[in-house]
Amino acid sequence: MADARQAPVGVFDSGVGGLTVLAEIQQLLPRESLLYVSDGGHIPYGEKSPAFIRERCVAVAEFFIEQGAKALVMACNTATVAAMADLRERYPRWPLVGMEPAVKPAAAATRSGVVGVLATTGTLQSAKFAALLDRFASDIHVVTQPCPGLVELIEAGDLQAPALEQLLRNYVEPLLAAGCDTLILGCTHYPFLRPLLSQMIPADVSLIDTGAAVARQLQRLLQQDHLLAEGPAAVTRFWTSANAEHFRNILPALWQNSYIVQSFQR
Ligand code: DGL
Repeated sequence: MADARQAPVGVFDSGVGGLTVLAEIQQLLPRESLLYVSDGGHIPYGEKSPAFIRERCVAVAEFFIEQGAKALVMACNTATVAAMADLRERYPRWPLVGMEPAVKPAAAATRSGVVGVLATTGTLQSAKFAALLDRFASDIHVVTQPCPGLVELIEAGDLQAPALEQLLRNYVEPLLAAGCDTLILGCTHYPFLRPLLSQMIPADVSLIDTGAAVARQLQRLLQQDHLLAEGPAAVTRFWTSANAEHFRNILPALWQNSYIVQSFQR
């Protein structure tokens, strides 16, 4: 019988954003074999209906089950608010890890008492995000900034593009003007913008994301179920529902380890 611990972990995002989480997982759990689906053919999730996102998440989850994945990481804030509850109901025994904007650590870290959140429209409009604010941000002022267009420019693959820099500046300046000393990167694509952001923000403004916390949560769940791999890890396998050639072209700038890219048609 196959050793369940050696089964791969499935990681999923609407596009390349989840690679920021995949990198944290690989760093913390180097013995795990990783599968990654980028649903770039349907990007941006941030401007799609929750029902549509749920359908996509189920299609990807079913694919990972066919691939024998022992756990699923939804490396997407927007998909988590739209579909995680549904997935937990469908797959009650499968270890599932979702994402949420880092409101709790930001509330603990802020000195000015003003925190900014950069995220997708879908995440910021969700009941789950409202509940997160109720729970952890009652003592601070939170300024939210939806960022339409940013994800598409990141997917284009040029993280220094002038159009990307200009759009980002438009979104960040109002947050700085409001007195934010802590900015939450509430979409998994945005950690790729840290180099650009650090040129735009004063040195005493901090950036927070939850990629590392998600990797630790995955570790906890695998440990609990005695499913941590002994290694060695197999080569990381990527699937994309967008143009596979484009994905192959942009991947080396975003992912430094070896991999295979295939097309995802569901
Ligand atoms: N990366 C996704 C997130 O964390 C959103 C990207 C999209 O809008 O498709 O929210």
